[in-house]
Amino acid sequence: MIFRQLFDSASSTYTYLLASRRGGEALIIDPVLEKVDRYLQLLRDLDLKLIKAADTHLHADHITGLGALRDRTHCVTVMGQQSGVDVVSMRVSDGDSIDIEGVSLDVLYTPGHTDDSYSFVMADRVFTGDTLLIRGTGRTDFQNGDARAQYESIFGRLLKLPDQMLVYPAHDYKGDTVSTIAEEKACNPRLQVKSVDQYIDLMSNLHLPNPKMMDVAVPANMRVGLAQDEVARRGWAFTAAQAMELIARSDIVLVDLREPRERERHGVIPGSLHAPYSDLADHVKPGGILHQLGLATGNQLLFYCAFGERSAMAVRAAQDAGLTNARHIQGGLEAWRKAGGQTTHI
Ligand SMILES: [Fe+2]
Repeated sequence: MIFRQLFDSASSTYTYLLASRRGGEALIIDPVLEKVDRYLQLLRDLDLKLIKAADTHLHADHITGLGALRDRTHCVTVMGQQSGVDVVSMRVSDGDSIDIEGVSLDVLYTPGHTDDSYSFVMADRVFTGDTLLIRGTGRTDFQNGDARAQYESIFGRLLKLPDQMLVYPAHDYKGDTVSTIAEEKACNPRLQVKSVDQYIDLMSNLHLPNPKMMDVAVPANMRVGLAQDEVARRGWAFTAAQAMELIARSDIVLVDLREPRERERHGVIPGSLHAPYSDLADHVKPGGILHQLGLATGNQLLFYCAFGERSAMAVRAAQDAGLTNARHIQGGLEAWRKAGGQTTHI
């Protein structure tokens, strides 16, 4: 098991790098833009392939590294379904898991600090974002924060985790690195309240100044920029409406790049093949199944995913591998649905 806690001193943010082995797949939680070069160096040092990068919530105090990591590693960017952030290519909700080789994080919806705040649970530890901090809790006075929701998230969800579970927050301003559920129950001053009303009272009387970076970070984090814009400029995208007309043609091979859980939860476009994005590099290289399908038969590959981000990166990878007739559905299944496209459940 590889576990690294990385620190950005400008914003006091902790970023976590997880992998099950050297030479394997990696996941990053809450990356900071200015530190992306450092993460990439560490990934190279440990011979890791970054598969997913997740933010626990929309950050107000630093610019996320999700966009830069996507651009430089083609990883899948993950946030909660409530998030309005454009860069996200996979959205999760309570009860889902975020999986890479040998590592699985259970997804807990823990709103309160923001309405898109999530915690991720892995075996003996929980990544609490800004919901539960060491001897503190995330402020609830902006970004659709809600002290009542946070009380429920902390007392109803996080404090019900095993006492010995390690707590790894997204920030610490005092130099603490880790705590446990039992320690926070006993020693966190914000949690020594008798009722939800007492907690709301406490949180509404903090009178904190806004974070220095807030006016810059929130808009920047909302609009990181889409991978699919460039793909559309190159003429490699179809709108959902165009795709609907095309799929009747026999030389179109529709390829779903999402993970099995997303397919089960949200349905599939009838007649599509399944080739998960994580295996794409193997599928599009010479000898791979999509390479053969696209090149040997002259078929047009039409990729889709949830929002069009993974499929845009897939088109670029396929084009790089010589599949010049690879295209994707802009906006993914979400756009397909909005345009009245059919889906079936599997
Ligand atoms: Fe935050």
